[in-house]
Formats: sequence, structure tokens, C-alpha cells
Amino acid sequence: MKFASRLDKLQISIYSQLAELKKEIQQTGKKLIDLSIGSPDLAPPQEVKKVISEQALNDQAYDYTLTRGTVEFREACAKWYKNRFNIELDPETEILPVMGSQDGLSHIFWAMIDKGDYALIPDPGYPIYSDGLALVEGQKVSLPLQRENNFLPDFSQINPSLAEQAKLMILNYPNNPTAAIASPDFFQDVVRFASNNGIVVCHDAAYTELAYEGDKPTSFLEAKGAKDIGIEFHSLSKSFNMAGVRLGFVVGNCQVIKALEKIKTNIDYGTFRPLLKAGTAALLGLPTTIEKNRQTYKQRRNIWVDGCFSAGWKIDKPKATMFVWAPVPTGQDSLSFVTDLARKSGVLLVPGVAFGEHGEGFVRIGLVQNENILEDAVGRVRTFLSNQD
Ligand SMILES: Cc1ncc(COP(=O)(O)O)c(C=O)c1O
Repeated sequence: MKFASRLDKLQISIYSQLAELKKEIQQTGKKLIDLSIGSPDLAPPQEVKKVISEQALNDQAYDYTLTRGTVEFREACAKWYKNRFNIELDPETEILPVMGSQDGLSHIFWAMIDKGDYALIPDPGYPIYSDGLALVEGQKVSLPLQRENNFLPDFSQINPSLAEQAKLMILNYPNNPTAAIASPDFFQDVVRFASNNGIVVCHDAAYTELAYEGDKPTSFLEAKGAKDIGIEFHSLSKSFNMAGVRLGFVVGNCQVIKALEKIKTNIDYGTFRPLLKAGTAALLGLPTTIEKNRQTYKQRRNIWVDGCFSAGWKIDKPKATMFVWAPVPTGQDSLSFVTDLARKSGVLLVPGVAFGEHGEGFVRIGLVQNENILEDAVGRVRTFLSNQD
């Protein structure tokens, strides 16, 4: 068989190495603590489960909802945005449901990028940004996210000629994997830089609801002029523990949304009606789930960071997301450390290099196991580190 060469451009090598490593550990009979995944272990709200199960029995619920989904869902998104960020959105032209933000984030490149076009992509960054760009044969201009700059890109370091040629910039705050939060001032700088260079901004806001030190991460669209040049993706996966439901939405500039819709209408026929109903219920009335999630991740973060600190591994305490981004404590490269730790202790993390070359020197810990399991993992890390000398 002859396959498309674009398959070779997708970054699967580190993830397949991790999958092999996981298999190897499971085969030894050692209990694996998998902190490499980014899928919440917490249950969705009762109301969401009830709506899905009730609506699934409705004979009228099985038609195509088409890419734009239901007016009811889009209006719920608009209300949630107004309540949460005080931003007005037109549900007809400025909101589109997506089958998880991954769907939108992968297809936005099809709408914006031709072969050879430049896009600014954060490094480290969530893998679909680079992969989505590779699938349309665009060219990547890295935005290094460095600790000394609070994991925000430094626009003064970008080659002005590449900035001028770039068509699209992807950003993501609160950030996966670094857990950094962006300030309103930063987003205002983004609007300035993007407007000056004619760049469309695509902000991935999957983690705005997972901040646990009293911060209320802002929407990119709160920056003055942002809606003229950009869009923002939201996900119900993390905010409401609905990852498997595959539901998110994109808001912002109506021309960009229309372009994405044009691509998607040729690819999918919309989300199952009961899932849109469940999403509507979540957005309109389940703030207690969000608050409970915040408390849970905060407690888990404390277990991990405080426990590792007492074992000599100094890690900055993240204020948001479900991840901890930690410097490799042993002087190894990130993949060697992850491999060694997994083989010796059964604790599986993600090497920072899986998120890009600027992720090297770090590992990502997903706070996706309960408190007891995390305590167990910290104990194993302590033993592993004490056997290093
Ligand atoms: C930064 C970021 N964006 C997008 C996604 C995709 O989320 P979903 O497609 O479930 O909405 C994830 C999932 O882990 C993520 O971490």
C-alpha cells in the first residue's frame, strides 16, 4: 500500500515510545501510576448525565444537527460568555460549536493556511498546533515559551520579516503544558502585535475555568480590538469533565468563524442533539462543578508539589490547569528521566520534549489521579530520587 507522505509529518514517535513504555511496565506486573494523560478522572455533573440519558430516548434526537448545531446551544454559549467575561457575542455569526476544541484547532489551519504559509506556534505547545499546521503543509515559526519570561512569548524576538509574512498565531492560556496564566496586558500586546502584522490570532482557552488561587483567567476577547483579529476556543472537556462528550465552541471574529464553518460543513454533520442539550445545561447552570474541580486540582497540586519539594525536587506551584510543569531533577534529558522513573518506580509522566524542543529540560505531570494515588506516586518519586546519589 502507498500512504500519504503527510503521515510522516505527524509527531507520533515520542507518544508511541510512551505507549511502549507503559506496556513494558504493565507486563512486569508493577503497578503503573499513569500521570501522562490529560483526560479528567472526575465525573461530569449529575444533570449532564441525566440530560444525555433522557434525551437519548427521544426519537426526534437522531437527526443531523449540522455544523452550526442548535440555536439553543449557541445562545447558551453567548450567555455563559456574557456572565463569565462580560463579552457580547452574536449567536448567529460569532459562535460555532466544535466536536471538542481539538476539532476546531485542527481544522482552523485548513481555513487559514495554504501550503508554505507561516504560522506562529508556541513551543512547548499542545501537539495539535504543530500537527494541524503540518497537515496543511504550512511552515512553523516557533514562539519559545521560556521560564524567565513566565512562559509567555517575547514578540521582540520574532524575526520581523517572518512576523510580517505569518497569517496565523496560536496561543493558549492558561497554558498546557506550562500551566502559565496570561494577563490582560499581555493579551493587549498580542492584539497590537497581530494587528501590526496582519496576523489572525487563535486563542485556545481550554483551561480558563481551572484556576485555583482566586485568579480568574481572562478571555483573549476582553482585549480591545481582539474580536477584529481573532477567535477563541473553549472546551467543555475540562470545565465540566465532559472530555468523552466531544463538545466545545469557538467564538470571535465572524469572518474567521465563517471560514472554519465552511471547512467543517464539508467534513462533519454536527454533534448529537442530546450532547448539545447536555452542553447547554452545563453552560447555563453548573458553576458548582467548576468550583469543585478547582478545589480538587488545587489539593492534588499541593500533594504533588509539596511532596516533591520535601524529597528535594523543587517545583514552582502552578496556579491553573490540571498539570504541573517541572524541571527535570536529575540532570538527564526529559525522555531519559521519564523512562528511568517509569521503569524504576512505575510512575509515568510526559517528557517536556514531547511538546517541542523548548520543552526539553521539563516534564509534565497530569493531576489526573485521586489524592491517595498521588500520595503513592510522590512516595515512589521520593524513593527514586533518594536512590540517585
Ligand atoms: C490546551 C488544550 N487544548 C485543547 C485540548 C483538546 O480538548 P477537547 O478537544 O477535549 O476540547 C486539550 C486537551 O487536552 C488541551 O490540553
